[in-house]
Amino acid sequence: MTDMKVKVGIVGLGRLGYQHAENLAFRIPNCELTAVCSVVEEEVLEANERLKVPYGYTSYSEMLSNKELDAIFIASPSGYHSIQIQQALEAGFHVFSEKPLGLYLDEAKEVAEAVKNHPDQIFMLGFMRRYDESYARAKILIEEGEIGDPILIRAYGLDPTLQMDNFLKFAQANYSGGLFLDMAIHDLDLARWYLGVEAKEVWAIGGSYTRPEFDDLGDAETGTAMVRFENNAMGIFVAGRNSVHGYHIETEIIGTEGSLRIGTTPEQDQVTIFNENGIINTCHDGFISRFKHAYLREVEEFINCILEERQPEVKVEDGVESTRLAYACKESFETGKLVKVDGIKS
Ligand code: NAI
Repeated sequence: MTDMKVKVGIVGLGRLGYQHAENLAFRIPNCELTAVCSVVEEEVLEANERLKVPYGYTSYSEMLSNKELDAIFIASPSGYHSIQIQQALEAGFHVFSEKPLGLYLDEAKEVAEAVKNHPDQIFMLGFMRRYDESYARAKILIEEGEIGDPILIRAYGLDPTLQMDNFLKFAQANYSGGLFLDMAIHDLDLARWYLGVEAKEVWAIGGSYTRPEFDDLGDAETGTAMVRFENNAMGIFVAGRNSVHGYHIETEIIGTEGSLRIGTTPEQDQVTIFNENGIINTCHDGFISRFKHAYLREVEEFINCILEERQPEVKVEDGVESTRLAYACKESFETGKLVKVDGIKS
């Protein structure tokens, strides 16, 4: 089966969708990007031409009726994920979806049920950091006992100030799900992955320090969640949108016999400039630059899973439990109270 090409249709051609589309079209030998879909017709026409894709749709349901396709790749806004995943599974396709599974825990649970009902179709969720070489190596080192038992995870997920206006649009209610569901969810998933247990309770605080518009949206410009895990390990998660030096993703894992850090200074490359301003390393300017290889590796894994008829390591339940934890953070931020994670039901 491995000399066959998996034919993929992608929905969503925005900031991340177009990057995925380029990977699917040009960088994966066993894959053919066969269809693109977006509600914006110009995006469809441009992708048809630039990516040499034969089919283009402004209607998702029309794309799902294309019998040439094997798989659907979802990179539309988060509020559409749950329904689009379920429709694609129902129509018999393998499915990759960007995070999160949905904007609400109930939506995530519906997806989990649908995935369970289609066990022969591959389902993969875009927690791409697990496919980043540094994060993947850290996982192996932890499993090999390099730092003893991990007892504390400290994570920074900071978007660049330069993109604040975009984030304000993105942070609109019912679009992204807010700071914890949209941004912190990657770190929450990583912490669960590294520790191998679920979170027990959360206290989260935050605010809007330079742009009060986030207050008006009921969201935070910068937020922090302190989490206790089931094994008593601790987590400190900082998510923010005002990182003046650029896109800063950093994780520290402290263990009983050592610690390790990933991305402590998030340089874009290995060039260091020495001049009258001092010693300068340029920072990544966004997620595409920092995680370019991880986005490619996760898509390769999705295609390989289809060809080799196996499910990926990242499971739909990871999406459900990360959503539950993100909602606990959100509820704590909104109420100012300590929140029990297993008390979050919908
Ligand atoms: P975007 O707003 O730049 O692009 C959205 C795309 O979907 C556009 O092409 C838009 O025309 C299209 N679209 C909107 N409504 C649609 C509908 N009903 N049917 C079909 N197409 C529709 O969004 P962006 O930043 O590319 O994010 C897309 C998703 O990817 C989000 O769910 C976000 O959470 C996720 N994401 C994940 C990241 C990661 O690191 N894994 C990074 C950035 C985004």
